Amino acid sequence: MRLRPTGCGVTLSTRPLEAGEAAGAARRAALSFGSQPDEELVEQWRARIASGQVIGAVDDGEVLGHCRVTAVDHWFGGRRVPTQHIASVAVPPEHRGRGVASALMRALIIDGQRAGLGLSLLFPATTRLYRKLGWEHAGALQSYRLDARRATVGGPVMRAVDGDGDWAAILACYERCARATTAAAVRDDELWQRRREAPYAYVLPGATAGTVDAYVLFAHAHAPGDWQYTIQVEDWAATTADGLRAVVGLVAAHGTVGKDARFRDGVPDRWSLLLGEPDVRPDGGMFWMARGLDLPTAIACRGFPPGLSGTATLAVDDPLLDAASGPWRLEVAAGEGRLTPAADAEVMLDARAVGPLFTGFRSPAELAVAGVLLRGSQEALAWLTGAFAGPPPTLVDFF
Ligand SMILES: CC(C)(COP(=O)(O)OP(=O)(O)OC[C@H]1O[C@@H](n2cnc3c(N)ncnc32)[C@H](O)[C@@H]1OP(=O)(O)O)[C@@H](O)C(=O)NCCC(=O)NCCS
Repeated sequence: MRLRPTGCGVTLSTRPLEAGEAAGAARRAALSFGSQPDEELVEQWRARIASGQVIGAVDDGEVLGHCRVTAVDHWFGGRRVPTQHIASVAVPPEHRGRGVASALMRALIIDGQRAGLGLSLLFPATTRLYRKLGWEHAGALQSYRLDARRATVGGPVMRAVDGDGDWAAILACYERCARATTAAAVRDDELWQRRREAPYAYVLPGATAGTVDAYVLFAHAHAPGDWQYTIQVEDWAATTADGLRAVVGLVAAHGTVGKDARFRDGVPDRWSLLLGEPDVRPDGGMFWMARGLDLPTAIACRGFPPGLSGTATLAVDDPLLDAASGPWRLEVAAGEGRLTPAADAEVMLDARAVGPLFTGFRSPAELAVAGVLLRGSQEALAWLTGAFAGPPPTLVDFF
């Protein structure tokens, strides 16, 4: 795709990188993210290029920057919404500050909308770059820490995973959990392969044979010079009250040499619901960002609260994506939504408001106070609040 000049007069085009460009991609990635510029890294980028995931910004034949782009479904309201993942955005120091990354992102916005992806998601190392282009914080990836000796909640005892049948049940347990949350990813085989490498895996069998009500995958992590270890929870899920108590109770069972557990969950976390005191402490995390792309698809694919019905008209001030601007008529009934063209709009959104409104990370009132929901009656905002309400938008898989 040919792009207009950047602020510095550079005219960039974007295209998928080719096999012979893997070493350059690895160099840019190493320079940008501090990884080791070795043959293993080149091999990793060669594989990504071969699967068409790496898009470069090119000026007169020279690749000035690149990023990884993939399409992944995420659960919203119990249904799957196709999204664009952007990761590993890298411009080497000699080309920074000339608008290369911005030009690349502008091209991806148009590509993503044309591909029928509802939203674009990314983990930002800097907010400003993405915010200027319509992404906004739309959910959390949050880690917590709990002292093992304070995790005494009782609960049934989990057992070690035993074979492929248990793993099939773990995948099903994850999906039941993910469907009931906001924004969890539909995981692919590669991610599950990595999860299966966890040194320890435990399950709580369910009432029906071949099912589990909970699982925990973890490793032991030692700080230098510390004889005790941290239970590094790599993944967990629970679909019942017994399951949740079993997961937290497993941490307590480590409470001699295993001093604490580090785990990921939404904000607020669920483990705190079982504890008598506020012993779960936040321990690192970040807000991820979302941007609206193909809005009719995003609305048609997601689920809405089953008991809610009604309509609102809205428009989006999106200078980078005419196709998203509207005005639109949003109709919700029987758990489903539809976005169709309208004559005019009561609610006016800045492009940045779309991501956090869609995920429910920010209420319309908060977006209005921040100046990104530009106009709308109290009645319309109250209805939108209910339409997009749900569990806290959470990603636990960094990409
Ligand atoms: C971040 C990075 C991709 C930006 O690339 P770039 O081509 O220099 O970006 P642009 O010239 O398009 O800058 C666009 C905006 O991003 C912001 N930005 C760029 N670099 C920034 C930095 N280091 N810190 C804070 N903001 C920055 C600027 O606000 C700029 O807007 P401005 O016009 O108001 O100044 C590049 O510095 C890089 O590769 N860094 C290391 C890896 C990294 O952090 N990647 C991002 C992962 S999410």
